[in-house]
Amino acid sequence: MEYINLGKSDIKVSRIGIGTWQASYKEWGNDVDDDNIIQAVHRSYELGVNFIDTAEIYGKGHSEIIVGKAIKDIDRDKIIIATKVHGAHLRHDELIKSVELSMKRLGVKYIDLYQIHWPDPWEQISLKETMKAMEELYKDGKIKAIGVSNFAVRDLEESLNYLSRTSIVSNQVRYNMLQREIEEEVMPYCKKNGITIIAWSPLAQGVLTGKYNENNLPRDKIRSGNELFKKNNIKQISNLLKILEKVAQYKRKTVSQIALNWLLMHDQVVPIPGAKTPQQAEANVGAIGWKLEPDELEKIEGELEKIDIDYM
Ligand SMILES: NC(=O)c1ccc[n+]([C@@H]2O[C@H](COP(=O)([O-])OP(=O)(O)OC[C@H]3O[C@@H](n4cnc5c(N)ncnc54)[C@H](OP(=O)(O)O)[C@@H]3O)[C@@H](O)[C@H]2O)c1
Repeated sequence: MEYINLGKSDIKVSRIGIGTWQASYKEWGNDVDDDNIIQAVHRSYELGVNFIDTAEIYGKGHSEIIVGKAIKDIDRDKIIIATKVHGAHLRHDELIKSVELSMKRLGVKYIDLYQIHWPDPWEQISLKETMKAMEELYKDGKIKAIGVSNFAVRDLEESLNYLSRTSIVSNQVRYNMLQREIEEEVMPYCKKNGITIIAWSPLAQGVLTGKYNENNLPRDKIRSGNELFKKNNIKQISNLLKILEKVAQYKRKTVSQIALNWLLMHDQVVPIPGAKTPQQAEANVGAIGWKLEPDELEKIEGELEKIDIDYM
């Protein structure tokens, strides 16, 4: 396994992490099983993955409880736990309460990476108040590093102004082959400022595994709201999936591994694929340790250029 530093901190995370939004009861489908998710975390850890992402909002705390169970027998200093405070809890006192509750559910005395899940959607709470509370937690040793999520460049710039003792180490954003909006501004800014990009939905919630098509769509609550699964979008994506399948066969990899490896081309990007089973977790780790060739990348890029996702 390869490891990289989170931002400018000395925290080392595996090149790929594991996301655990899936531990939200049946929101991700009737096949979700908590024990399988615990095993997915264990299998990942056995393979060198030390980085686990969760959030207080996932299953209203359930995901944190499951992560807590999964890490119970692992030495605390061997694992990097990332969780997030919800966008509705960004006032000083609420944030402090949130972190305490997260630590309790996770069964830990500190959180490695505490992230602001979204900037305040109603823009009522100043970023100054939130960042000062984050810095207080850092100073008190309750969190080892400050991260953000879904922050635009203006949010990052403003937040950095309010921190004096430490900095922002990461920005967790949507990034996969089909959804590349961060490449324009957020990614160059993060690169320049030494902020790690943590890529959520790296498999486009399953679209980039190759197992879904017009006649076989996931029926769960989460993905019924994802535009990528709309008929006209999944139809356009089918040609890309054919190319990915060919590349995968040639390289003796899977479509998912091609999609994740494509993200790993960027040094500062850490994908956190969500896994429901140890088999999925193991397959995702197989995205590491090899490279796509320039002609393979060109073929993929050529197909991506033809796709125009309809978000209406
Ligand atoms: N910060 C944020 O705002 C934010 C937002 C979203 C997610 N996240 C984080 O990012 C993580 C990952 O994103 P995501 O869950 O949205 O999507 P994702 O990782 O792109 O897709 C996960 C889904 O893909 C399928 N899958 C995973 N590995 C597979 C494999 N090897 N082979 C076949 N299928 C596989 C599984 O579903 P099926 O088997 O049912 O197809 C799994 O539930 C989350 O768990 C969460 O921690 C953060």
